[in-house]
Amino acid sequence: MSEPSNTDTSAETTGAAASAGDPDPSSSAGTPRRILITGANRSLGREAARQLIEAGHTVWIGARDAERGEAAAADLGGHFVQIDVTDDASVAAARDTIAAAGGLDVLVNNAGVLGSTDPVAETTADDLREVYETNVFGVVRVSQAFLPLLAESEAPVVVNVSSGMGSLGRTTDPERIESTIVGLPYPSSKAALNMVTSQYAKAYPGMRINAVDPGYTATDFNGHSGPQSVEEGAEIIVRAAQFGPDGPTGAYLDREGTLPW
Ligand SMILES: NC(=O)c1ccc[n+]([C@@H]2O[C@H](COP(=O)([O-])OP(=O)(O)OC[C@H]3O[C@@H](n4cnc5c(N)ncnc54)[C@H](OP(=O)(O)O)[C@@H]3O)[C@@H](O)[C@H]2O)c1
Repeated sequence: MSEPSNTDTSAETTGAAASAGDPDPSSSAGTPRRILITGANRSLGREAARQLIEAGHTVWIGARDAERGEAAAADLGGHFVQIDVTDDASVAAARDTIAAAGGLDVLVNNAGVLGSTDPVAETTADDLREVYETNVFGVVRVSQAFLPLLAESEAPVVVNVSSGMGSLGRTTDPERIESTIVGLPYPSSKAALNMVTSQYAKAYPGMRINAVDPGYTATDFNGHSGPQSVEEGAEIIVRAAQFGPDGPTGAYLDREGTLPW
């Protein structure tokens, strides 16, 4: 979670820098891409899918539950693919389905869980393992499976949906709301995801691989307490999904610009 940092809801979701200080997005908006979003049956993933479909892209609605995923795909005009990011066989089958359909240009690792919010003293290693299974190992599992397919794309892109709660800079800044939330599993999982993202970006210099923070957004994830709408929260996901070959990579971005790691 992170504090909403931009009240300009008119900012473009599909292209040029939305505000001064943004990195050059070198957008590929306008070029149809083949996109997979994990956890796209509801909330931020679903809204990102909606916006990307509206922008003319082919979007795979990744969901672990077939009924929920098929319903969302039918509503949005996307293509359902079953994918549980904690399950090797499910991820391999999703990769095979998408490969057989022609390939993939953009992977959005959006699926994430909050996990235990118990006080630190009561938090166990198993509590962390459960959250890491989705937020960290899930991203590595899906990336490992899809990177060879992405490598066949002319302009491969990976968007890892992180959080301001994974930022050491923000969680130690007394001016920021992120510093008021104290817990082990979720913040540390997103910090690990940030490092995973940075290392993947260095390992694959030909790809645009970034971590994004949607900002504190009203979804099921937080009992709809976030002040941002899903339209606002999905904005940076949608923008980073449309980065072109000259766009940033190895960056940590929200809709205002760059976050401190
Ligand atoms: N909301 C915020 O304020 C906020 C702020 C910063 C970052 N984020 C990040 O944004 C991402 C989306 O958050 P959200 O608010 O949209 O959360 P959400 O409302 O809880 O939705 C999470 C989505 O992830 C899916 N999912 C969970 N585990 C999965 C698994 N093992 N395999 C496949 N899909 C799985 C869920 O599927 P089911 O429907 O089957 O459960 C659901 O579609 C997360 O990574 C979260 O950490 C959110």
